[in-house]
Amino acid sequence: MSLSPYFRPTEGGDSVFSVESGKIKFGFGALEEVGVDARSLGMKRVAIYTDPNVAKLEPVSIALNSLKKQAIDVTVYKEVEVEPTDCSFKAAAAFAQDGRFDGFVSVGGGSVIDTCKAANLYATYPAEFIDYVNAPIGKAISVPGPLKPHIACPTTFGTASESTGFAIFDYTEMKAKTGIVSPRLRADIGILDPGSLKTLPPLVRAANGFDVFSHACESFTARPFTQRPSPSDPTKRPLSQGANPYSDIACIEAIKLIGNNLVQAVTAPEDYNFEALMFAGMLAGIGFGNAGNHLPHGMSYAVAGLVKNYRPDGWPQDHAMVPHGIAVILNSPAVFQLTGPACPDRHMLTVEVIGADIKKTDENDAGAILAKRIIEMMKATGIPNGLKGVGYTEDDLEDLTDKAFPQKRLIDNAPMPIDREQLRDLFKSAMTYW
Ligand SMILES: NC(=O)c1ccc[n+]([C@@H]2O[C@H](COP(=O)([O-])OP(=O)(O)OC[C@H]3O[C@@H](n4cnc5c(N)ncnc54)[C@H](O)[C@@H]3O)[C@@H](O)[C@H]2O)c1
Ligand SMILES: [Fe+2]
Repeated sequence: MSLSPYFRPTEGGDSVFSVESGKIKFGFGALEEVGVDARSLGMKRVAIYTDPNVAKLEPVSIALNSLKKQAIDVTVYKEVEVEPTDCSFKAAAAFAQDGRFDGFVSVGGGSVIDTCKAANLYATYPAEFIDYVNAPIGKAISVPGPLKPHIACPTTFGTASESTGFAIFDYTEMKAKTGIVSPRLRADIGILDPGSLKTLPPLVRAANGFDVFSHACESFTARPFTQRPSPSDPTKRPLSQGANPYSDIACIEAIKLIGNNLVQAVTAPEDYNFEALMFAGMLAGIGFGNAGNHLPHGMSYAVAGLVKNYRPDGWPQDHAMVPHGIAVILNSPAVFQLTGPACPDRHMLTVEVIGADIKKTDENDAGAILAKRIIEMMKATGIPNGLKGVGYTEDDLEDLTDKAFPQKRLIDNAPMPIDREQLRDLFKSAMTYW
């Protein structure tokens, strides 16, 4: 592969990458076109899925009016649970089955879009709930055929759920976050209207923005696809292929957009900031959807899963939680400081596109400079000061490490091998930053 020295062929390494993506519509006013899009997909009897909070906001009324204008019969399901569970997925699926809809429109964040995917799946191909759930928790049975048309209209910008084949939920009895994975779950169209982001609370904007930033930095610095063992059968090539020339293009632009817009988008937003955030979220979705994340995400599941008493502003206050974007970015500075020397030119490019002064910089310090810039952005946007800022102490290091170390898919996607001791050290370095 001559596209970059990073993709130099290796003995037994893969030589092929694939490009996975769905149809996207982007821009202010795009949501007003959802009725015409639904009609062109043949929808006549539609369920709009949303959550109780988003149900009161403008995007749902815009979608409703647009669908009605096309004489489409619409019912609104607003019972989606934020951070959905197997129970809330089942309730949403029962509603879909009873309603005999011929199409779905989801309006909300990742929780809503994922719930709508699952409802569509179980209503179209009824089965025991566990059948389609990922192994080893579930049976991972393949989705038998195409689902009913689904248009996903995100009102957040971090998850890229509108273009992925994942539906993530908390499996209540196992206290585990798992999901259903199939390309057939991907929405037919994702409608990305930056106007839908204006009501997001500031800390939610910050958390989404850092999630996007980390998706892009992780995918850009991931192990190259040429170093992942070639699959014995092409159908076994993983979705997370490792860094590749296609994901690179999307990642570097996303890093630039977030680096240049996030602080203002949280503190004093203008329309163009929302446009930049949403476009960056879409690009980073291409990045992690094709290349895959690595350590900050692998560590985040432990940070979120072992939560103590943290209750951040802007999220439901009925239970403690470390929201995903915060659980990720608290690890990122420690990680990039360590991984910098594993692919110095890639870390250098990330700091270059976000405008850091790198004239006299040694390439091996690029990871440390990226870490420093992330810390400055965290401070400026109200993100807690490291893992201690969300309630952890050094006494939690073993538990955090035990919970994160089994995330092999993510840890193996890092640009260097990481053993348990190094992972523990990363959590230790992430305790406080300033
Ligand atoms: N499917 C995927 O590929 C994928 C990827 C990453 C994460 N996820 C999942 O997505 C979920 C998180 O999604 P999310 O971060 O988009 O948030 P979310 O859907 O959980 O919503 C977070 C909060 O923001 C509110 N909200 C949403 N849009 C708003 C708006 N425009 N204005 C004001 N408030 C608004 C919601 O009501 C909720 O209280 C998790 O369950 C996570 O596991 C899925
Ligand atoms: Fe993420």
